[in-house]
Amino acid sequence: MKLTKQDVVARFLPATLAEGAQAEAFAPSNIALCKYWGKRDKELNLPINSSLSVSLAHLGSRTRITPSDDGADHVLLNGEEQPLDSKFAGKVIAFVELFRRELDQPLTIDTHNNIPTAAGLASSASGFAALMLALDKFYDLALEPQLLSAFARMGSGSASRSIYQGFVEWQMGHREDGMDSYAMPLEQSWPELRVGLLKVATGEKKVDSRAGMQRTVETAHLYQSWPLQAAADLEKLTDAIVRRDFELLGSTAEQNALSMHATMIASWPPLLYWQPDSVAAMHQVWQLRADGLPLYFTMDAGPNLKLLFSAEHQQAVCDAFEQLEVVAPFSG
Ligand code: DP6
Repeated sequence: MKLTKQDVVARFLPATLAEGAQAEAFAPSNIALCKYWGKRDKELNLPINSSLSVSLAHLGSRTRITPSDDGADHVLLNGEEQPLDSKFAGKVIAFVELFRRELDQPLTIDTHNNIPTAAGLASSASGFAALMLALDKFYDLALEPQLLSAFARMGSGSASRSIYQGFVEWQMGHREDGMDSYAMPLEQSWPELRVGLLKVATGEKKVDSRAGMQRTVETAHLYQSWPLQAAADLEKLTDAIVRRDFELLGSTAEQNALSMHATMIASWPPLLYWQPDSVAAMHQVWQLRADGLPLYFTMDAGPNLKLLFSAEHQQAVCDAFEQLEVVAPFSG
């Protein structure tokens, strides 16, 4: 019988928890340099490949949990109450239930994302990580980072990496219960590294990552080669980080993102997340690079680009791309 999230989490918690008073936690958003794409277990969000990301410092989600006094759960997003039957509230409450279980304490879960909406970044990674960290405090669990990461992964795979700042590697793991599938921070930092968030198109209603990766795994023969690509890229990226080799970091991240997109395009029905403006921005990056600017990009399951460059080239990059939101992941 397949393990459920409930089975797995319950093994690490006391039979019942004490009611909490209030708690608040922040978790950063993250950008994968080696992408997570494809699951071996959909229930537990266990990935087919290991991945590596960089967290976005102060950009992310802040979640506050308080007991509610009117006997009902409340879910708020950026100050607005979300109907309990909405997709967002449903996911939040389902995750809270993994911990609350038979404890009959209604809660208010208030999440604020400070990711600029203009950057078009997904917030499920920072959202589930912040929720996990807030639950850990609220119920006084004091869980080890590996457990926090593995549990956040059950909310959304990429949330496993948002438990930490800096460079983070999520080991795919092999166990059936997934408890060896968690992220760990790398000790290296890279103070000059910059990530530029470039919103190139207002995306139409898209297929989310969850549905997109499932479609890719099920329909794209090209996906067979993805785990090999990811494993090779992970090694190159680790090497690039240790040696602070920017060209190796940027080129590997860009090729990794384009390889992932190749598997998406080879799915059926096809998944092409790019808009004409995305392709125009790619060509602009390639032209600037040909002209001598060390600039690379990565992309997730959407039309926007994330630019990778070094602090010394920030002015030139910002001159080329107006309204670029620049993040210094290791700013201190
Ligand atoms: C393309 O973590 O959002 O951004 O586990 O189904 O919630 P679920 O998927 P999610 O997928 C992220 C995919 C990606 C690459 C990455 O962040 O590694």
